[in-house]
Amino acid sequence: MNKVEKPPRRERPRDEVAEAASGDAPGAVVIAVEGLWKDYGKFTALKDLNLEIGAGEIFGFIGPNGAGKSTTIKILTGLLKPSRGKAEINGMDCASGSKELRYQVGYMPDNFGVYEGLKVWEYLDFFCAAYRIPKQQRAETIERVLTVTASQRIKDFYMEALSKGMKQKAGLAKTLLHDPKVVILDEPSSGLDPRARIEMRELIKSLKLMGKTVMVSSHLLSELAEISDKIGIIEKGVLLASGTVDQVMNTFRQELVYELEVVGDTVRAEKALRLLEEKKFLSHVERIGAMFSFKIDSGREADAVKILAILVQNKLAVKSFRPVETDLEDVFMAVTQQHGNENVQVE
Ligand SMILES: Nc1ncnc2c1ncn2[C@@H]1O[C@H](COP(=O)(O)OP(=O)(O)O)[C@@H](O)[C@H]1O
Ligand SMILES: [Mg+2]
Repeated sequence: MNKVEKPPRRERPRDEVAEAASGDAPGAVVIAVEGLWKDYGKFTALKDLNLEIGAGEIFGFIGPNGAGKSTTIKILTGLLKPSRGKAEINGMDCASGSKELRYQVGYMPDNFGVYEGLKVWEYLDFFCAAYRIPKQQRAETIERVLTVTASQRIKDFYMEALSKGMKQKAGLAKTLLHDPKVVILDEPSSGLDPRARIEMRELIKSLKLMGKTVMVSSHLLSELAEISDKIGIIEKGVLLASGTVDQVMNTFRQELVYELEVVGDTVRAEKALRLLEEKKFLSHVERIGAMFSFKIDSGREADAVKILAILVQNKLAVKSFRPVETDLEDVFMAVTQQHGNENVQVE
């Protein structure tokens, strides 16, 4: 690239509604993670993680259990120190223990304790005190967070008597007490029934409308795909893909997956399997009876035609042969099952 060329005026697609609501500078980066590593003894949980989350965005942080989501989140919230690299929120180093940072960030852990003997409003009142919200403002503050989380109905319920869905709402209400600009939710929908999941998604969307920047994690892509402006897919401590859902999808669509069916008995099917497995430009060859699926690593359709020709030359009659449409979960499975820890950045 020509070095004197002017940089593009905007580095990221803008979300005008979110920007207006957040009051932050247009396109401002709120959460910035650069070259982040985390070791637990000899085990490396995060490997060179890079993330940028813009003002007013919902960022869906997706990965299977053990991928490193909570580790990243704990570093962002200052509970863990990185082994290398840095994490910043609104330009403040997350490892600094800054008070200002604590006021700007609301964090809901994946498992928060049960407060026995406390009613929901008492639990909220307790945390108002922890945030040093003056006594005369507490009733109003509690009312506000109960309204935002549609939880007025449960304010006199005992915490230990709440269903998982209600408990998560109370936890979210607590997270919003000090009206943080940045909200980080670690698997808020884990263990919820389908109805409570939908409610949680709606609540997350409403946080965006309030102008907040939201980072939310899940082990399910389908949980967050619809509500996230951007997603990041992490596995074994490596960010495998990030960008808008469409960008991530397009990246992996390039990997053509085909399905074919041969005519005939087991002997023929096994012959076909051998032929497919021999081909270096294929991977993920799988067989169920006379049906096969495989991935064409080059992404070239010409290579698919080659496969068809090889089968026919070997006197195998092919009954059907077609590319498989990838949907969201396919993408997630494909991304998280790949063996090499290749870093695919589509931003
Ligand atoms: N305190 C710890 N000591 C040792 N290993 C840990 C610790 N916390 C997490 N891990 C390991 O780090 C990896 C990432 O964990 P975590 O960040 O909790 O993943 P996720 O939230 O995506 O499920 C896992 O393999 C987990 O076992
Ligand atoms: Mg976790």
